[in-house]
Amino acid sequence: MKIFLDTANYALIERWFQTGLIDGVTTNPTHLSKEGGDPVVLVKKICALLVDGHISVEVTETAPERVYTQAKALAALSPNVVVKIPCHPDYLCIIQKLVHEEIPLNITLVFNLMQGMCMSKLGVVYISPFVGRLDDSGVDGTALLSELSDMLDTYDYETELLAASIRHVGHVHAAIEAGADVITLPPEILAKSLEHPLTDRGMELFANDWKKLGIQTFP
Ligand code: G3P
Repeated sequence: MKIFLDTANYALIERWFQTGLIDGVTTNPTHLSKEGGDPVVLVKKICALLVDGHISVEVTETAPERVYTQAKALAALSPNVVVKIPCHPDYLCIIQKLVHEEIPLNITLVFNLMQGMCMSKLGVVYISPFVGRLDDSGVDGTALLSELSDMLDTYDYETELLAASIRHVGHVHAAIEAGADVITLPPEILAKSLEHPLTDRGMELFANDWKKLGIQTFP
């Protein structure tokens, strides 16, 4: 499973990248606005750090022809940029055109099976269901992950399932169980999902028992 970081914070990306766990980054207008400064400079810096990873950068224009032009400009920032476009019917024609021009796309804000199926049919690189936001609306977001995963298997589409809007460890488990190709995680959720109180307790017990032996060096 690929793990992406869901942030535009360079310091956190750099820190987690050193662990060898991180395969890419997903940014969005909210993340970039939070960091301040020049978003182009920041995006290029992140792309240079993860040269082999996919860095999602979202369009900010809304009119389809402008989204099309902006998508091409964003893709030109670095060879590892994947352009994020919202899953909206107004963008179907430009998504088809961009796929044809081999611009890698991550379709964001996916909330149902039909949206995911149609985008996969168009040949985008990633579809991103927003698990947490679906939960917020009163619908089980994790169920959509399994539905999309089955759909991709059934029709043998090459599109990858990218679980997004991950808010807690339960979502992480559900994404793994659903066989998502990628999970994008806020750094704090990644940290939390790697911890367990019994691991800490076990380490403490082993350390205490070892001290009873009274030896200084081993081996
Ligand atoms: O990758 C999308 C993600 O950033 C959205 O998360 O928590 O704002 O719904 P959230």
